[in-house]
Order: sequence, then C-alpha cells, then structure tokens
Amino acid sequence: MVWSWEGAIPDDARKSVSMDGVRLATLVPVAATFEPAPCGVAGGCAYALSRFAYVRADGGEMVLESPLARARIALHDWRATAIVHLLAGPQRVEDIRARMPSVSEEATRALVALFLAARMASEATAVGRCAADESVALRSWEFHDLLFHARSRGGRHGHPVGGTYRFLGDLDPPPALAPIAATRPVELWRPDLRRLEAADPPFACVQEARRSIRVYDERPLTARQLGEFLYRVGRVADYWEDELPTPRGSVRIASAARPYPTGGGSYELDLYVSVNRCDGLDAGLYRYDAERHSLQSLAAAPEDFDGLLSDASLATRIPRAQLQVLIVIAARFQRVTWKYGSIAYSLILKDVGVLYQTMYLVATAMRLAPCAVGCGNADLFARATGVDYYAETSVGEFLLGSKETEG
Ligand SMILES: Cc1cc2nc3c(=O)[nH]c(=O)nc-3n(C[C@H](O)[C@H](O)[C@H](O)COP(=O)(O)O)c2cc1C
Repeated sequence: MVWSWEGAIPDDARKSVSMDGVRLATLVPVAATFEPAPCGVAGGCAYALSRFAYVRADGGEMVLESPLARARIALHDWRATAIVHLLAGPQRVEDIRARMPSVSEEATRALVALFLAARMASEATAVGRCAADESVALRSWEFHDLLFHARSRGGRHGHPVGGTYRFLGDLDPPPALAPIAATRPVELWRPDLRRLEAADPPFACVQEARRSIRVYDERPLTARQLGEFLYRVGRVADYWEDELPTPRGSVRIASAARPYPTGGGSYELDLYVSVNRCDGLDAGLYRYDAERHSLQSLAAAPEDFDGLLSDASLATRIPRAQLQVLIVIAARFQRVTWKYGSIAYSLILKDVGVLYQTMYLVATAMRLAPCAVGCGNADLFARATGVDYYAETSVGEFLLGSKETEG
C-alpha cells in the first residue's frame, strides 16, 4: 500500500478491508501529512497493539484512534473490533486465525496490515509489547497526556481548531458571571488602587523577590489582606456586551474582565476560598463574588472542607493545622467550550497558569506567603461546593499565608 500526497486529503486516500463483500474496516487519514508505516505482514511474526490506541463509539460507529496516528480506523464490523481486542497481547496471524476462524487468512492479514499502516500496532517485542511504543522519548508519556497533547494541538487530527463558536444557535451563550445565591455576603476590604500605585514595591523588586513560601508567621493573614489580594487578583474590573452576527441574527455575548488576561477574554475562572486561619474571618468554605467583591459562605460538609485542606497540606508539606487560606480555582467550562473547538481545556489550563503568576506577584508585592499547588481533587471540590462537576469544577489550587517577618 502506498499513500503519497500533499495538501488536502484526497477521497481515495481511504483504504478498506472487505471480506465476502462486507466491509470490515476502513483506514481514514485525518491529516495531509499521513504516511503509512511499513505494513508487510510476515508469517510467524507476532504483532501487538500500541498502548496509545483506543476504541470508542463515534457517530454510531466504532473507531480505533491513537495520538501516534495521523489516521483513524473505522471498525465497521464486530470481527475487526474482535481482532483489535486480541492484539492487546502479542498475536501472529495464525494465532488470530485460530481464535477467529470466521475471518479468512487474507482478511486477517489485510486487517493487521491496516493497523500497522496507521501506527495502531507494530511488531511485538520479546516481552510482547508493541515495539513502536518502546522508544525512549515515548516511554515516559502517559496515555492521557499524549492524547490531550495531540488532540489539543494542530497536526494529528482533522477537527476544527480555535474559536469556531461551536454551539452558536444551539445553546445560549453562557453568562459572563455565575448566578449568586441570595445569602448574606461577607463584604471584603477594597484597596485604593491609586495608593497602591504609589506605595507598592517596584515591579523589578517584586519579580526578583517572588518565591514559593511554605513557612508562615504565627499571626495569620488578616481579612483586610485577603480582601486586598482578591481585589487585585480576581475582581471584575470591567463588564461589556458585544453583538455577534450570525446567519440567524445577532447574539449578545457578555464579558466580565478580571485583572489578568485569558484566552479569548472568556474569564471562565472563579475563586473559592477555604479559610483555615484568617484574622477577622470565620473558618469555612466561601465562594468569591468577583462582581460585588464579597464572600458567600457555602455549607460544605466538615469532612469535605477538611479534605480540601488536607490535600493541599500533603502536596506542599505544610502541616494541615498551619494552613491559612487555600484558594481553589474553578472553571465554568462552557464559557470556553461553547466557543472553542479542540483547544478549550488546554486554554483553561493556560489561563490557570496566568492566574497563578498574577497571584504570586500580587502576594509578593503585599509581602504575603504564596505557593501554587500542583493537583487537587475535583470530585471532592464538587461535593464540597455542590456544583455540577461537568459545569464547573476545580482546575487549580493556591495557598496564601502570612510571611514571617525578616531579621
Ligand atoms: C503549576 C505549579 C504547581 C506547583 N505545585 C506545587 C506543589 O504541589 N507543592 C509545592 O510545594 N510547590 C508547588 N509549586 C511551587 C514550585 O515548587 C516552585 O514554584 C518551584 O520550586 C520554584 O520555586 P520558587 O517558586 O520559590 O521560585 C508549584 C508551582 C507551580 C507553578
């Protein structure tokens, strides 16, 4: 089999394997750069499926896909899927034939060749693994990381990338701000920005002094400091609405800008504040109302509240009792997924990085002790806050405390 072309993928690039007039599987290139791997199938040679290949249902059909491949294989017939199943371990054509006698030798060979050509499988190593997976560069990739990388960057898939407004006309544009429950808010201190402009340390000093600090002063940070921090990091600084023209009339899209940049100005990130020790503020879980600059108390179960803090303590080795404030960053996913194809989740994680650095710099300028946290428990967060995991869950965590006085 030879594939060779430049630019668009021609229709005849698809290769099918049929038996007795029934199509078993079709290789469908998804990138113009697709080139088939060597796919001669030798008698006596064992083959194995790549650990990166996976089967899923898509549009009423089973498909075999892999982030190593620039093609996908449509599995039209269950017998082709059964052969994929067998290839989870090393198999010679003779082995497959012995277990799947209903597929002819010619069709079995052609199916294995199709899997090899698409890089779904390769020769098996002496210990029965897919030889193509064994390169040093590939070995350290976990399945989900490589799939996320390949699928959220251009090059290895044929899906639309970028601001395609994928749900325009289908779902209403998600609101710029989440609705706030009518509880009595805790008003926060609002700093005077003019005064800060004059009094803050110079930017170069802040940037050079910035460190992750995991040791706190005995006296915890104050509610006033927390108020200033949240105001400088997360408040709604601007609000506007745009008309987006569509074939079915225009759609109104609202934006609520915060003090940091985000992809497409989506501003999908909201802050939840777990207070362990803060002078002037009761311990507990709060939602930050970025529009009103206030905190809204949430009725988290004590074990869930404790779980959030314990996870952050474990990740940073700061004793649980010494923690002061844990800020959990949650994403209202649909603000981004409504508009962006392929890159939505990767954009959200980039936005988290931007917010982390903003938090680090503001905390440093305020002489507080900041430390990002690498991982949290999104299920636990959904339980603690009562929000729908698929609508809004945690994507980042950040610890804040009082800094020991020097000297
Ligand atoms: C995305 C990210 C995740 C981090 N996760 C953790 C963590 O889980 N635990 C921890 O103690 N520090 C964590 N840190 C802090 C880093 O260890 C720290 O930034 C790095 O060692 C450099 O030190 P510095 O921040 O003092 O310059 C994280 C930092 C970032 C940016």
